[in-house]
Amino acid sequence: MTKGSAAFWSRRKSIDELSNRDAEDRLKPTLSAWHLVLLGVGAIVGTGIYTLIGVGADRAGPAVMISFAIAGAVCACAALAYAELATMMPASGSAYTYTYASMGELAAWVIGWALILEYSVVCSAVAVGWSGYAAGFLEGIGVSLPDALTLGPAQGGFINLPAVLIVLAVAAMLLVGTKESATVNGVLVIIKLAALAAFVALALPAFDPANFTPFMPHGFGAVEDANGARGVMSAAAIIFFAFYGFDAVSTAAEETKDPGRSLSIGIIGSMVACTAIYMIVAAAAVGAMTYTDFAQSGEPLAFILRTLGHPGAAAVIAGAAVVALPTVILAFMYGQSRIFFVMARDGLFPRRLGVVDKKSGAPVIMTLVTAAVCSVLAGLLPLAQIAELANAGTLAAFVATAAAVMILRVREPNRARPFKTPFVFVVAPLAILGCLYLFFSLPAATQTRFFIWMAVGLPVYFLYSARASVLATKPAKAY
Ligand code: ALA
Repeated sequence: MTKGSAAFWSRRKSIDELSNRDAEDRLKPTLSAWHLVLLGVGAIVGTGIYTLIGVGADRAGPAVMISFAIAGAVCACAALAYAELATMMPASGSAYTYTYASMGELAAWVIGWALILEYSVVCSAVAVGWSGYAAGFLEGIGVSLPDALTLGPAQGGFINLPAVLIVLAVAAMLLVGTKESATVNGVLVIIKLAALAAFVALALPAFDPANFTPFMPHGFGAVEDANGARGVMSAAAIIFFAFYGFDAVSTAAEETKDPGRSLSIGIIGSMVACTAIYMIVAAAAVGAMTYTDFAQSGEPLAFILRTLGHPGAAAVIAGAAVVALPTVILAFMYGQSRIFFVMARDGLFPRRLGVVDKKSGAPVIMTLVTAAVCSVLAGLLPLAQIAELANAGTLAAFVATAAAVMILRVREPNRARPFKTPFVFVVAPLAILGCLYLFFSLPAATQTRFFIWMAVGLPVYFLYSARASVLATKPAKAY
């Protein structure tokens, strides 16, 4: 314990304490740099580019290209901060752990609570996006599902059953064990990228510059009117969803072999690769047809190809999405169970919730709880709403991480840093300002939901976690 005599909310864990675990208390180090790049790309490329590209185009028009660039730039700044902290502190827990070491327990709780929201809601949002492609795919082979079973109550249905089923299937995969899941993930990532490449190859020949005018029909700043949210920034605030996932890589830090090298390759490599892919896919999509034609589709990429006269290719892309989008759910559910595991190990949740299965290495109870919550959200809520809520939680975690990297540079300037964020006092403030701008570009209702979630978390901290914390109950350990 670093600050035994500090007030409970500001007590911190030292970096050594966070990184050096007793052998019996550690997750097994089984993952290589290659596993991490695949885990990263697996987590990043998903419903954002496959589905939310339509929502983004609806809000920004062809200028959705600028929305992609803005969200990508903010994520790039945050990714640099993540890479420094993940390599300096190879412990599970991501932004939660960095905050514990830099800003103390209460701030760590707040970020852990925000991450729980992020990871659960991302799983649900991707499951809903998956369901759109699954329904389209089944339709293509002559199986029509009724709206009552593919839409939540807010959209006139009863339950989004495919979304519920995919969440449960992925949870079952995770319970089989990390290594096996990572291998399956690798194959599926390749399918997902091949499908995007095929989309670009077929859409580019139809490229018409006229589709880019008017370029910015709804202006730049986020506004809300009777038609909903509009503007380039409003689109950026939802498109942001497409970029994150590299942070899920850092939740695997403790299970990584040679973490210094592997984590910087995993986080930065996957982020850079995905940004390049998105810009190309977005340009191909917007250039291929008037954006209003595909904006409302639940499976925009397949829709564009079908409309261009490639029904076979559309079915293949939908099939690839159906097979491969679950990798995103896999990565976030994995991240979610690890955040819970670490918070329970720190005593902030009941410790028995974090117990790890000896054979699979998975925290079984938390994986099951996560699956139950995610499947309910996915079954009942519409996509844009849950994606925006996930973004709010993620933006909070990015702000904390960018702040943590600067605080630790000042407080522990001589500590070994296998990766150093270049121009950290420029890059980290840019990440913070960018995240705040994106947060305040989210619809007011999303901001309110986020603050309600945070307000629910604080009493849990003060009534339970502050007293049960390992730092409150265990004598200090010498490291
Ligand atoms: N970036 C992930 C996706 O787009 C969350 O699905």
